[in-house]
Amino acid sequence: MEPLGDWRRNKFVSDISSDDFESEVTVAGWIQDIRNLGGIAFILLRDRTGVLQLTAIKKHHGEDFFRKITTLARESVIVVKGKVQPNEQVASGFEILPCEFKVVGVAKTPLPLGVVDKVEADMDTRLDSRFIDLRKEEIAAVFKIRSTILAACREVFEKEGFIEVHTPKIVATATEGGTALFQAQYFEKKAYLNQSPQLYKQMLMATGFDRVYEIGPAFRAEEHDTTRHLNEFTSIDIEMAFADEEDAMGILEKCVYNAVLKTREVNESDMRILGTDIDIPALPLQRVTYSECLDIIKEGGYYMNWGEDFPMEAMKILGERIPDFFFITKWPTKSKPFYTQPFEDNPEICRGFDLQYKEKEITSGAQRVSDVNLLKRRLEEQGLNPKEFKFYLDAFEYGMPPHAGWGLGAERLTMIITGMQNIRECVLFPRDRKRLVP
Ligand code: 4AD
Ligand code: MG
Repeated sequence: MEPLGDWRRNKFVSDISSDDFESEVTVAGWIQDIRNLGGIAFILLRDRTGVLQLTAIKKHHGEDFFRKITTLARESVIVVKGKVQPNEQVASGFEILPCEFKVVGVAKTPLPLGVVDKVEADMDTRLDSRFIDLRKEEIAAVFKIRSTILAACREVFEKEGFIEVHTPKIVATATEGGTALFQAQYFEKKAYLNQSPQLYKQMLMATGFDRVYEIGPAFRAEEHDTTRHLNEFTSIDIEMAFADEEDAMGILEKCVYNAVLKTREVNESDMRILGTDIDIPALPLQRVTYSECLDIIKEGGYYMNWGEDFPMEAMKILGERIPDFFFITKWPTKSKPFYTQPFEDNPEICRGFDLQYKEKEITSGAQRVSDVNLLKRRLEEQGLNPKEFKFYLDAFEYGMPPHAGWGLGAERLTMIITGMQNIRECVLFPRDRKRLVP
């Protein structure tokens, strides 16, 4: 293995064009394949933008050089200085005639997982060697798109006057009733990993920050092993003051719109690699009330009682009948968490909403209860002890404006935009019921 020294890549594969013909470039990457025909050899070099061909010619390069470059193990990392030459027989239209190269990272053989092998490895094998799995262009494409989605959301937040915050992930109380908490030992105290920044982002509404967003981890000790659930996911959260649920939904639909728009612009080739496409949603997104959903579900031949949460079967019916992204609004108050504001003129229903993509929930949000007495009552109604929420309730006692917000699962949105069927495809190192490593 050789030190990198002052060698630096000056071109990615995709940056090389006919403008570079006959000039020298420095490229770097992984050896994807070597085809040695005896007197001539073709070495495929891959970087994050594509694959190029290095052509080694025994007569031209000499025996030693030729042997050294053709006997490298697949997936070793090299840096190459060479001349770009037109070659009509290569798909890219050019090849590189190497002048010098350095081996900067040797790969062991055999590989735990192939990068270009035709045989599909199963999910566990892939995740066990995720660092190699991510070398595959169709796997990496998902994460390039994920990056665009997050940037697109941030762009909306910045434009709309939100400031980025980070709240604690080691906490003393539950946030979302229903799902289980991971416990942690915090010196002599018992602590938990936070399920959502919910309580903290609400407390920040009492500070005058007005609009905050947080993109960070959320932890859920859910037992079920599904293609939609992770035990650690990335939550995109906002909270805004002097606002109701409609204002919050307005920001959300801008985020979704911008995420799809930017993906189509920036990640055209990644979408092509994945063989997927998604239409830019028309705004405003459709709003369907919970009661209207029940009617649609009934028409679809499934019966459920008012007040129940939608089982998957019911969601599927809804997803078939309402196109793409839509909001479910005006939920039964008892079906939503304690912090959700009931309608003042009909407290049976509340200002909570979900954003759906077909049968998949991708966001929950609401206007929040900002009246501390109502908040205490709502906690008690849901079997929670207001004393345990003192740190949170205190923020409501000294001037709390009305506010609203939502939490959007980054992996759920990535799943939808990339067309992935399993949420594990949208997180680098998934945490699920069985997996804690790598
Ligand atoms: O619906 P949830 O539980 O709502 C909240 O956390 C609220 N505090 C949000 C708010 O501001 N009112 O979670 C929000 C979103 C879900 O819609 C889903 O996209 C994602 O977070 N999510 C998960 N993603 C992957 N795996 C899990 N186990 C998830 N649980 C929730
Ligand atoms: Mg929800």
